[in-house]
Amino acid sequence: EKQKRLVVVSNRLPIVVGQQEEAWEIAPGSGGLVTALAPILKSRNGLWIGWPGCGEEAPLDELFARFSQEHNYRLHPVPLTETEVEKYYLGFSNETLWPLFHDLLGHCHFSQENWLAYDEVNRRFAEGILQVATEDDLIWVQDYQLALVGAHLRQMGVRQSLAYFLHIPFPSPDLLRRLPWKIELLRALLEYDLIGFQTLRDRRNFTNGVLAFLPGAEVLSRQRHYTLIKWKNRVIKTGHFPISIDFDQFDADARSTEVADAAWYLHEKFQDHQLILGIDRLDYTKGIPERFLAFERALQKYPALHKNLSLLQVVVPSRTLVPEYQTLKEELDGLAGRINGHFAEPGWTPIHYQFRSLDRVQLLAYYRTSEMALITPLRDGMNLVAKEYCACSVDHDGVLILSEFAGAADQLGKEALLVNPYDIEETADAIYRAFTMEPEERRRRMHRLRAQIRRNDVHRWARSFLAENKIQRAPPL
Ligand code: UDP
Ligand code: G6P
Repeated sequence: EKQKRLVVVSNRLPIVVGQQEEAWEIAPGSGGLVTALAPILKSRNGLWIGWPGCGEEAPLDELFARFSQEHNYRLHPVPLTETEVEKYYLGFSNETLWPLFHDLLGHCHFSQENWLAYDEVNRRFAEGILQVATEDDLIWVQDYQLALVGAHLRQMGVRQSLAYFLHIPFPSPDLLRRLPWKIELLRALLEYDLIGFQTLRDRRNFTNGVLAFLPGAEVLSRQRHYTLIKWKNRVIKTGHFPISIDFDQFDADARSTEVADAAWYLHEKFQDHQLILGIDRLDYTKGIPERFLAFERALQKYPALHKNLSLLQVVVPSRTLVPEYQTLKEELDGLAGRINGHFAEPGWTPIHYQFRSLDRVQLLAYYRTSEMALITPLRDGMNLVAKEYCACSVDHDGVLILSEFAGAADQLGKEALLVNPYDIEETADAIYRAFTMEPEERRRRMHRLRAQIRRNDVHRWARSFLAENKIQRAPPL
């Protein structure tokens, strides 16, 4: 059988369109979704549909043509108006679903107006898909911004099998109960034929939510890899598929001369002390203030760290128009200033804090050089930074400290030092433990971490997900 064309649909295209002086440019976008899916699209010569993230004045046709020549897959834009961005993207997606699904109710805002805009933009995405996709394509919708697209496609008469993957956690029924539109959301999700989650826990939360809030829904079968749900005479399959990275690519790039040179330069600069690395989008789910406090606590408790260890924290600007994100930025500036003001000595700054995005060579050099990584989200669907750090630890001597609330803990929890990011004492102790870990133990752990990620790379993730989608749309019972 001929392989179907893969059509990926996500809120944002994997790019940032911008202007340098007069000239228009395309740069890669940030975030785990893009990192994971770009290599899949490239290897299958597919089509990616999404919001270009820029105004109408950009010459998209020309820029996209250049992009597809270089990357071996095509882009199709779904433009959004300023009001849509405000209500659908900043509003419902990022002030309602994002905090609720990450167990951070305190950051949630509920607005009927935003919900209606979300529904309407999801309908427009469905229209955008119909403009370019055919019955023979494999349509794969991504993430929380687009939960209703499948239902809109059905209303437009689309019959083919539809797949959906949620990159962020799915909340427990207790949390989901708070969402005024939970019934509409669950019903819409069940219009997809295959629904993928990051972890078993997310998959269970979803099944339990369906059973709690949709009378008439039934579980037909629960297997190790999937659950079959019966709803309105159809059978829907759900499973968990932990997303990953292109391990071989990261490993190879981290060994390149360019990266080795950049790593050497960093090493020279920080000659006298070790580095513990944090890399995150600016996001309150990432636990960055808690991390700063844990590092401060470690400095209080363990004087041996003074002048011997610095935290290198890169914060990539993200969603800066959402007020919660602005507050977080101010909080981080304040904390870093306070801690450095208290502990710094000539020749040693405890926290090197950078608010910007990195290019790939820089990013890989940071991964490769840092003796430890401190990745402590309060909640995270997966967290690819953790996997990238291991893939780039080509000398096998990095130590990973990881939050137990990252999806990645399911795969890396045995060999990483797992911490509860809310537990400042425990995290401070883990920092010291990593700092004093014997080389032999470091290598043993890192070796296993790398083998795990190499085996379960992103190509395997896509294959195992898409294999579940082979079955045609289940006929009515
Ligand atoms: N990343 C990036 N630009 C940077 C630094 C990092 O695009 O300047 C990437 C990083 O390599 C990783 C992704 O952003 O692939 C972050 O993914 P993760 O799953 O850790 O978190 P998310 O941002 O999706 O919540
Ligand atoms: C996370 C989400 C993605 C999102 C990314 C970047 O990875 O799961 O859907 O694209 O963050 O966020 P942004 O709002 O800039 O697209």
